[in-house]
Amino acid sequence: MDITTTDAWQALRTHAEHFSDLELRSLFAEDADRVERMTLSVGDLVVDFSKHRVTPDVITDLVALAETTGVAGRTSAMMRGDRINSTEDRAVLHTALRATTSRMIEVDGVDVVPDVHRVLRQMAAFTDRVRDGDWVGATGMPIETVVNIGIGGSDLGPVMAYEALAAFRHPRLRCRFVSNVDSTDLAAALSDLDPSTTMFVISSKTFTTQETLTNARSARGWLIDRLGDDAVAKHFVAVSTNADEVAAFGIDTANMFGFWDWVGGRYSLDSAIGLSLMLAIGAEAFGEMLDGFRIVDDHFASTPIEANVPALLGLIEVWYRTFCDLPTRAVLPYSRYLHRFPAYLQQLDMESNGKRVRIDGESVTYETGPIIWGEPGTNGQHSFHQLLHQGTTVVPTDFIVMGSPDHTDEVFVDAEAHHDLLVANCFAQAEALAFGKTPQEVAETEPEPALVSHRSFPGNRPSTMIMAPALTPSVLGQLVALYEHQVFTQGVVWGLNSFDQWGVELGKVLAVAIVPELTADEEPVLAHDASTNALIRRYRALRK
Ligand code: F6P
Repeated sequence: MDITTTDAWQALRTHAEHFSDLELRSLFAEDADRVERMTLSVGDLVVDFSKHRVTPDVITDLVALAETTGVAGRTSAMMRGDRINSTEDRAVLHTALRATTSRMIEVDGVDVVPDVHRVLRQMAAFTDRVRDGDWVGATGMPIETVVNIGIGGSDLGPVMAYEALAAFRHPRLRCRFVSNVDSTDLAAALSDLDPSTTMFVISSKTFTTQETLTNARSARGWLIDRLGDDAVAKHFVAVSTNADEVAAFGIDTANMFGFWDWVGGRYSLDSAIGLSLMLAIGAEAFGEMLDGFRIVDDHFASTPIEANVPALLGLIEVWYRTFCDLPTRAVLPYSRYLHRFPAYLQQLDMESNGKRVRIDGESVTYETGPIIWGEPGTNGQHSFHQLLHQGTTVVPTDFIVMGSPDHTDEVFVDAEAHHDLLVANCFAQAEALAFGKTPQEVAETEPEPALVSHRSFPGNRPSTMIMAPALTPSVLGQLVALYEHQVFTQGVVWGLNSFDQWGVELGKVLAVAIVPELTADEEPVLAHDASTNALIRRYRALRK
């Protein structure tokens, strides 16, 4: 289907011609109910959409676009297990990972929910043993450090959530996350570890990922050098869909936690890929996180588009990216513990919707996935916020903020005062971005006329404010599900398959070919482009 020919699309094109006239100051002045009308909640999340450069007519046409492109039908198809990932011929069922036992979700006539809960029970039993000190290593010592080795979705979700839920961690257990094939990553993680108390969780859906297997082999060598071959069974477990490769690596499949091809890597935090997280926060808190996911799943599946929070977030992104030509979106958590959340979202969003070919194989004729980036506030305020406020590019921004401090320990007394300051800064940034400071307002206090233009803020820079009471496991699950479904909505409207990632393949293939050219004793015959050939030769010279 060519959506550009639909009425909703044409109407939005017309609205977008007047985008520069959409002034937040006027939109607020003209509509006393705007904030109330444009603040929605889902679970514990309160989402204020009012600072977006949209009118009720724009929203109506975006909702019509979602209806025309079949967002609701596609959601049902995903959640009931249809093979909507058509280029890989797979179902897309991350929502089944948090389904209760009362649900039945079939793939090829087989209910997957009992299997999901079987693995959750297996994870919980293992987790309890490790946390209780009942699982001991080869020298009889309890585990104190869990090293998760994985990359992409087998790293970013677990590390993001481990950091986010720092306040919920087991006092004896800590996790480290090794992803980069750069040897410093593994070396730094292992440098101060005692092998007797170290457990490796090798996380890889395919168990063929070059970086992960290279790191896993080196970790195994490190362990064997210190504790001998037999130690592997007590110090290595695997999370994967590929039992054959796990066994080939030398990990007993009794110590393997499985999942399924219908879980995409970037949607796998709540599968067994979350094992390191579960080890850190316990099975109960992990279950609370799944409950949080489910709250948003239920809302997304059952709420009309005009009140559907993830769908509206997705549609507003479509408005900015496709119709208003804004290339990027910032995600700014005002929460130190959410410092890996933007990186997590980068994979979720950019690997899902960074595509230029529609699901039917035709090229799109419009802009799709935005560039996602961000850092926690308030730090960003002292660096890139300059561009957000006064640069030439308008960057729609997501602010995420909690009602109370994230940590629970009583290290010092004035955590509340810090938090008040944090929240004040968050609100102030959103206010300044939206409403700016006009030259007239600046001139009232600025005696030097030459400085007025420098000190003026154009404002009219849109943002979403997402607030929750506290960064609990449930709230984290809600946040992740919110973004998963936002990304899904965008993908449907753009006509993309948000669940494949062919764009990562070419580089992998080329790297495999280049490795022997870097390491060969004899000067290799190189058949790359001139630049790559020269780089290889230069590296070979340095390597010698
Ligand atoms: O290369 C991209 C990718 O396939 C991601 O989609 C995935 O999350 C990551 O690599 C890791 O894959 P695996 O879990 O199979 O090691």
